[in-house]
Amino acid sequence: MSIDLAALPHDFLWGTATAAYQIEGAVSEDGRSPSIWDTFSHTPGKIAGGDTGDVACDHYHRWREDIGLMHQLGTNAYRLSIAWPRVLPGGDGPVNAKGLAFYDQVIDALLEAGITPSVTLYHWDLPQVLQDRGGWPTRDTAEHFAAYASVVAERLGDRVNHWTTLNEPLCSAWIGHLEGTMAPGLTDLTAAVRASYHLLLGHGLATQAIRAASPSAQVGIVTNLSTIHAATDRPEDLAAARRMDGHTNRWWLDPLHGRGFPDDMQEVYGVELPEREGDLSVIAAPLDWLGLNYYMPKTVANDPTGPAPRVREVPRLGVPRTGMDWEVDASGIETLLLRLTNEYGARKLYVTENGSAYPDVVRPDGTVDDPERQEYLISHLAACASAARKGAPLAGYFAWSLLDNFEWAYGYDKRFGLVHVDYKTQKRTIKGTGHRYADIIRAHGQRGRKAA
Ligand code: FCB
Repeated sequence: MSIDLAALPHDFLWGTATAAYQIEGAVSEDGRSPSIWDTFSHTPGKIAGGDTGDVACDHYHRWREDIGLMHQLGTNAYRLSIAWPRVLPGGDGPVNAKGLAFYDQVIDALLEAGITPSVTLYHWDLPQVLQDRGGWPTRDTAEHFAAYASVVAERLGDRVNHWTTLNEPLCSAWIGHLEGTMAPGLTDLTAAVRASYHLLLGHGLATQAIRAASPSAQVGIVTNLSTIHAATDRPEDLAAARRMDGHTNRWWLDPLHGRGFPDDMQEVYGVELPEREGDLSVIAAPLDWLGLNYYMPKTVANDPTGPAPRVREVPRLGVPRTGMDWEVDASGIETLLLRLTNEYGARKLYVTENGSAYPDVVRPDGTVDDPERQEYLISHLAACASAARKGAPLAGYFAWSLLDNFEWAYGYDKRFGLVHVDYKTQKRTIKGTGHRYADIIRAHGQRGRKAA
């Protein structure tokens, strides 16, 4: 399979992505306070193998080496997240100078290495103190988020142009408050719907705060979307697929694009939105770009007795799956990029995460050969290029992830990295896929030079 590199713009961002809690470790250093993920990961039974992010990839101490790896991969962009509890350990209130200084030096080093930083303000690590005061189901949290965004943008906005407010609000709201397998671990539909609302409100308020602090800022949000298929063409399964599309995709995209929260889903949830006048236009502030995290499609059947949205996922047989048991279907990324372009009028798109976990083995010669991940990368990049060829304004791709890391409820067992991490020694080894990614980036650059 070949990637139509000519379809991608010359200034395409070739990046990798990480998130603070998944890589940093150093959870009680330099004034950081606990986040909901410290609490959740330390709650027995919540994380496979009893793993926690206490040490993770020790990136807090090894960030120089990790930027060196990005340089070796030839990437020109890096998506990182800032840990709110490092910057504002009280959730709101006084700034922790040491916390901000950590990110300040990372940003400077990235720029020195010619790597464009793309900063995510919230990748799920709400300060526990704010959870204790009600968390995302309460409106205050949205306001505190905007205040935190303002502090960070004021400090880094002279050097950072790419800002993401939230990573995957779906996971925070639905998995964290409805399914309960992510922090804060609730299973409460009312709390989940209220959290979803306040997350999007927080996004809108933070967008205003970032733009006020840094007028040149390019602000976006990262959504994890899926293509949805009905298990059969029976009317009840088709309706289930429509509900799943509402739950996964439209609930987030519609309000962000000024269409309000979808009526059909408001009916499905049956929870009154905590709406105040003017909120919807705050949420719908025009985005400079939209981020797509894509991993897999979903196939669903009707489940009349289940919790909202009353669907049951049905595994499709005979299709390849990753080590997460996630179906591999590269066509989904193309479909979604084109949907965002044609249905939502996206002006600029980034694939902000895409990748796969497989059980990697370090060979006796010290190398890591990962052909399945390589195939996943290439097929998805080919699908991205095809979407660009058909008109999607795709400006960059961030591979998930730079490093193997703490994969939330799955702990360290699932490895998504382009770089292997030996957690005992913290030794980093670029996997075969990392080398392949470097080749692709190089080939695209050479094409650009020839065309110039
Ligand atoms: C996404 C998360 C990211 C990582 C990947 C595998 O949902 O944003 O942190 O865990 O999945």
